[in-house]
This record gives sequence, structure tokens and C-alpha cells, in this order.
Amino acid sequence: MLAAPPLGSGRAGRTCLAIVLAAGEGTRMRSARSKVLHKLAGRTMLAHVLTAVVAAGADAVAVVAGGDPEAIAAEAKTVAPQAELAIQAERLGTAHAALAARHVIARGYDDILIVFADTPLVRPQTFAEMRKALAAGRRAVVALGFEARDPTGYGRLIVADGALIAIREDRDASDEERKLRICNAGLMALDGAKALALLEAVGCANSKGEYYLTDVVAIARSRGLEARALAVDESEVRGVNDRVQLAAAEAILQRRLREKAMLNGASLIDPESVTLSFDTILERDVVVEPHVVFGLGVSVAEGAVIRSFSHLEGAVVGPKTTIGPFARLRPGTDLGPNVHIGNFVELKAAKVEAGAKINHLSYIGDAVIGAKTNIGAGTITCNYDGFGKFRTEIGEGAFIGSNSALVAPVKIGAGAYVGSGSVITADVAPDALALGRAVQVEKVGWAKAFRSRNQK
Ligand code: UD1
Ligand code: CA
Repeated sequence: MLAAPPLGSGRAGRTCLAIVLAAGEGTRMRSARSKVLHKLAGRTMLAHVLTAVVAAGADAVAVVAGGDPEAIAAEAKTVAPQAELAIQAERLGTAHAALAARHVIARGYDDILIVFADTPLVRPQTFAEMRKALAAGRRAVVALGFEARDPTGYGRLIVADGALIAIREDRDASDEERKLRICNAGLMALDGAKALALLEAVGCANSKGEYYLTDVVAIARSRGLEARALAVDESEVRGVNDRVQLAAAEAILQRRLREKAMLNGASLIDPESVTLSFDTILERDVVVEPHVVFGLGVSVAEGAVIRSFSHLEGAVVGPKTTIGPFARLRPGTDLGPNVHIGNFVELKAAKVEAGAKINHLSYIGDAVIGAKTNIGAGTITCNYDGFGKFRTEIGEGAFIGSNSALVAPVKIGAGAYVGSGSVITADVAPDALALGRAVQVEKVGWAKAFRSRNQK
């Protein structure tokens, strides 16, 4: 659902370095973890940004970290194996942060993207547009802007005759400049041949005493170079500083994921109530009822129906299979076509073959269930003895009576029957009937005699 198009190909031949700034302290998150390692739709903000720059054609990536560099480097490598870590020991501003990757810039790239790891919603297309704008006009700087509903706190883009003249930080702006609503999103594309000289010319004579990345615009202009701004919607460049903003970003991302799923042919009856992961795959004609959660690693094949209040993670759902309501699919669940999983059924590491049914109140873990087998209500695979996990294998066309306990390791042959209420501790041959329960005893007249003894 989310495989990004190979946007890099449009600028064939141009090399690109993305510098990802992630050295913020993130104190407002009030978290033991680095801010950029917090997740949106199941993936860290850092990974979202890295995926987007790589999709926009970045061949090299430098991640600038302050605190927690090991965790940041490890996470970066999961999505961009080529990522290099640069350390910004002191937090002296965005230009200073970019220069922590000086040695990487010095290797020479055509385009340099400077992006923020805490601005996770920028689409790859936008990064690609920035690169295109850089190349098209032989510009030294392309900045990303947006019209802010409330511009307070943002740098303002000062534009004249289509050219970007300067970016003025809020606290350094005049009253007149502060009235401008077109703000700086913070992200930039720089001409790689000029980038080092521009960044190194940035000083810190401003109200914060910081090295502002935004100063490269005026510096470029003073050297007769051109700068431009591109505009995007504010929702795309939202930054995340605290958990309220994290939730707001999650909401935007969820909306995007739902729209994408629906445009790809899945029906979400009440989209707002469905939670998706960045990697959820819903094929066409899948129907998702209200209140369903898709954790990481779920794919649902054509025509399947996921009924209300189901929770899925690490699961494959076959075509025309139905799940729920109130089903839980845990990692390693692999359902074939036309399978029925009903209410209050939990599956883990279980392969369920075509047309099998597990309709009510069951736990099936570490198991294979053959095609067309029927698992009766309340069946439990006893897969764990407190130390090890053991497998249950059931052949095709078997029938497991209600309320059976299958004590693993155990095999039940194709076409076998298990009587209701059995505790099955030994293998069952194909086409046999297994009964693992006490034989019923009947005492004629016992109840009547019992009552007359007690009711005087
Ligand atoms: C920056 C822009 C501002 C823009 C705003 C958008 C500058 C000078 N200003 O301001 O024009 O409107 O973003 O949100 O660039 N970082 C480091 N090391 C540092 C400083 C920052 O890694 O020394 C990282 C932060 O972790 C963050 C990003 O750079 O991801 C932006 O830094 P922040 O301090 O939030 O910049 P703003 O003041 O918001
Ligand atoms: Ca900020």
C-alpha cells in the first residue's frame, strides 16, 4: 500500500546527500527515549523521514544526533543502511548542526537536503520537488514554506518578485515582517557545490546567539546566487515537540493511510475508527468494519472482511477470509482463502488452510490447521508448559468437538473426529474418533430419591 514511487529517477545523474537533524533535546516529550524515536503509525519519526528522503533519491544520508547516538544510528540503519552518524556535541543552532556533517558534505554531492527528524510528515514528492527546483534554476537555496494559521514562533519568508530574499526568525523580525504569514518549514535544499561555503559563512549575531540555517538565504543573495521558496500545506510540515503534537501528527498520517487504502480499493465503513500501520496492505474489495486495529506487518488479500473490534498484527489474511467480530490475530498467523475466524478467537503462529473454520472462543497457537477442518467452540491448543512451546498439527477435513484441549506436541490426522470436551494427549490417526473424557454414568431415579431425602 505504501511503496513509494522511485522519485529519484526524475533527476537522473544528480547525486544527493540528505542531512537529517536529530540533535534536539526533546525535553517536552517528557520521555526516557529520544524524541525522534517516538512512533507514528508503527514507525519512528526518524524512519519516516529517512524513508522519504531515500524515496526522493538521496544516495547518502547523514544523521546528526546529540543525545542517544547509538539508538539513533541503529534505528537509522534499519531503513537507510547507508546512513552515517554525525555528532553535534553542543546544540548551537540548525546551521551548526548541518555542519556536524561537514566531512560528508565535503565529499561532494549535487544536491543537499537538510531536513528535520521531528518533522515527519513531509512526503517524498515534496523533497523531490525541492531537488527539481534547485536543479531547474541553478539555484543555490530552495526553502520550504507554508501559510501558517498562526505564524507565531516561525521564521518568515521574505519574498520579492518570486525570489526568496531572506528568512527572518520570529524573535529577530521587525513588526512589519512579523505580519507575514508565509513561514519557513525549516527544511532546505542547497546546491552541493556551494553548501559548505554558505554554511560556514553563517554567524551567530542574533537574539539567540545561534547559527541559523536560515541565514544561508541572505548570504547566497549577497553572493549573487539565487534562492527560491516552495510552498506546501501546513499539515505536511507540522513539527512534533510534545505528545499532543505527536497525536496530531498521528491523526494526519492515519487520515493519509486510510485515504490511500480506500483509493486502492478497500472499503472502510467508518474510516476514522480504523487504525492502520505504515505497512498495512489491504487489497481491493477488502471490507473493514468499524473499530479495527492493524498493528505492524499485516496484509489482507482481496475480498476479505475484517469485522468490528478485531486486532491484527504480523498476520496474513487470505482472499475472501472473514475475521471477527472480536478476533485477535497475533504475529505468525497465516490464513488461507475462505477461512472463517469468529468471535473471541485468538491465533498466534498458526497456519490455517483454505476453508477451515474457527468460529467461537478458541486459542490456537503454534499450530497448523488443515483445509476445511472445523474447530469447535472453546477449543484450546495447550502449547506451553511453562518452559517450552509445542506444536499442534491437524490434518485436512478434521472435526474437533467443542471444548477440547489439545495438549501439544500432538498430531490429529486428516478426517479424524475429536469428541467434545476431550483432553487429547496422544496423536490421533486419520479418520479415527478420539475421546479423551470420562465415560458418562447414569443412575436412574437418583435425583428424585435425593430430593425426597432432603425435602422433609
Ligand atoms: C526552525 C527555523 C525556523 C522555522 C522552524 C520550523 C532555523 C534557524 N529556524 O526554527 O525558521 O520556522 O524551524 O519549525 O533554522 N536542531 C539540531 N541542533 C541544533 C538546533 C536544532 O539538531 O543545534 C534540530 C532540532 O532537533 C529540530 C530542528 O533542528 O529537529 C529545528 O530546530 P528548532 O530549534 O526546533 O528550530 P526552530 O527554532 O523551531
Ligand atoms: Ca521547532
